[in-house]
Amino acid sequence: MDPISNPFAPGAGTRPPALAGRDELRETARIAIARIARGRPAKSLLMVGLRGVGKTVLLDQIRDDAEASGADCICIEAPEKRSLPALLAPQLRLALLRLSRNDKAKAVAQQGLRALAGFVGALKIQFADIEVGLDFDPEPGLADNGDLEHDLQALFEVVGRAAAEADTTLVLFIDELQYVAEAELAALITALHRTGQRQLPIVLVGAGLPQLRGRMGNAKSYAERLFDFPFIGPLTDRDAEQAIEQPILDERAAIEPEATAKIVEQTRGYPYFLQEWGKHAWDCAAQSPIDCADVDNASILAIAALDEGFFRVRFDRLTPAERRYLRAMAALGPGPHRSGDIAESLGRDVQSLGPIRSKLIDKGMIWSPHHGDTAFTVPLFDEFMRRIMPDGQ
Ligand SMILES: Nc1ncnc2c1ncn2[C@@H]1O[C@H](COP(=O)(O)OP(=O)(O)OP(=O)(O)O)[C@@H](O)[C@H]1O
Ligand SMILES: [Mg+2]
Repeated sequence: MDPISNPFAPGAGTRPPALAGRDELRETARIAIARIARGRPAKSLLMVGLRGVGKTVLLDQIRDDAEASGADCICIEAPEKRSLPALLAPQLRLALLRLSRNDKAKAVAQQGLRALAGFVGALKIQFADIEVGLDFDPEPGLADNGDLEHDLQALFEVVGRAAAEADTTLVLFIDELQYVAEAELAALITALHRTGQRQLPIVLVGAGLPQLRGRMGNAKSYAERLFDFPFIGPLTDRDAEQAIEQPILDERAAIEPEATAKIVEQTRGYPYFLQEWGKHAWDCAAQSPIDCADVDNASILAIAALDEGFFRVRFDRLTPAERRYLRAMAALGPGPHRSGDIAESLGRDVQSLGPIRSKLIDKGMIWSPHHGDTAFTVPLFDEFMRRIMPDGQ
């Protein structure tokens, strides 16, 4: 069928033609943000899930919903090896500049910009990557201690007061939060704790790999009480069917139910894979309706595309020793696996593999669902590892 009108959208953070199965989470976020706006307590939301499950697009959707309801939004993606203060400072500055255009909030927002100047001045030795334009001179004693936890609290408090004056809610969206260092997470948690206690309208909606939950708990033991950690999983069969069928119907075409079922089965309902299969099924079909034979052809192309893209980019970042570790895991099946079993199949002891395992966790390739267990963060990665390293070497 015509590739130009192909509705499917495989990609990182690429909006799907139909955002299936996430209405409940959107509603949870809407309620939390609306409660904060009214000065009522609500937990910040941290959505955790495997690679390609749809965290980023859900965050984007929640941001659109929040903006439509009048909230002021800040969006950050935490890349590896950037500090949180460096990511936050320019965005907080823009938010404060926006708030300073509001007559009622102007004075407090300007105080916020002074706090930001103090914050940046005091922390730029420790966080050399901070780069931000400064609009005001610092106010001595305001957010300029040089201690991140203390200064971020002070800064958030002024920002929160400015948002309150402007009758708005500041929603902080942070993607890939698992890459933020634990000390910086601790400062973020403390700052949000403080604004929560003062009933100031700031709320965090974050997303990250499943290890985020443990990292937040390590950073501050009370994080569990301050945040909800909804798990973003694969779609249910019904939602996965909708993710495939709806966009096709919207293009006035059709797919046979058996063909949809085949896609759902092969993708296990994982959103990224649904988009990839949907795209190839459409392109393989000569005419509507898309049938099972089209899906069989599409499967070959979809797997090849994943092997060259989604899986491959992650594989390329691995050292030979890390590849051997993941290949040993893959030999044991989809997982999770006991770290002892992985070590045994490599003929090594668990301790000596500790550094490799930690590196793989830092790179976001694996995580530990329970103590002593190891699982892939990329769905179906075990099958890929067996394909790309067929003889286990
Ligand atoms: N609910 C959904 N229904 C249909 N397709 C979806 C859904 N959520 C995400 N997708 C599609 O899945 C793909 C991956 O989405 P996204 O980049 O948001 O995942 P992610 O969890 O952020 O992945 P990563 O961990 O790699 O950042 C995109 O092509 C997107 O269009
Ligand atoms: Mg993402």
